[in-house]
Amino acid sequence: MSVTILDHPLIKHKLTNIRKEETKTKDFYQNVEEIAGLMAYEITRNFPLKEVEITTPICKSKQFELAHDVVIVPILRAGLGMVEGIRKMIPTAKVGFIGLYRDEKTLEPCEYYAKFPDTIVNSIVLVVDPMLATGGSASAAITILKKRGCKDIRFVGLVGAPEGVKVMQKNHPDVNLFLAALDEKLNDKGYIVPGLGDCGDRLFGTK
Ligand code: PRP
Ligand code: URA
Repeated sequence: MSVTILDHPLIKHKLTNIRKEETKTKDFYQNVEEIAGLMAYEITRNFPLKEVEITTPICKSKQFELAHDVVIVPILRAGLGMVEGIRKMIPTAKVGFIGLYRDEKTLEPCEYYAKFPDTIVNSIVLVVDPMLATGGSASAAITILKKRGCKDIRFVGLVGAPEGVKVMQKNHPDVNLFLAALDEKLNDKGYIVPGLGDCGDRLFGTK
């Protein structure tokens, strides 16, 4: 498993915006979407291409297109905030959904929804969730996708904790991780420190 921290200056700047306590829902959502878009550029850097013959207004020409379909799978709710940013970069991407919430006492993920495009098995799957805390949600989502037959899965998050990275390494050593930042630790309530608080609530204005 590789862990890539995408610390481009624009990503760092926008991440600082969403870490600020005073950032309100509209700006928070916009910055999450923009960071996801910038991350997409880096994540796709090594995606395979296939040669295609096209006709320009001038002549026939051999050019390139992405070789594989891409499916974005947000973990509901907070993962939804990253979808449009990535779709702007990969407009042909399809979208699947996994609904998971963390039980507030046990911190264990509970599944409540799953819906995927038929083509997902042969696609490059980007599991997106802004927060990798204990790693329970990301790990459970990837287990669901593997049971479904997906083989090429990558995890894309904004802020990770070392605890979550360790869990992913143990449970899914074949899945590469892309994060905008790796923070210090989890607090006793399972929140990332310094983190950005409850991402779902901040994205959607609940609480
Ligand atoms: C948050 C976040 C992740 C999960 C991360 O979701 O969006 O899915 O916690 O924590 P973990 O790594 O310890 O599993 P939450 O359960 O708060 O649900 P929500 O997105 O519906 O608010
Ligand atoms: N989920 C969040 O939204 N934030 C955290 O810090 C940890 C889990």
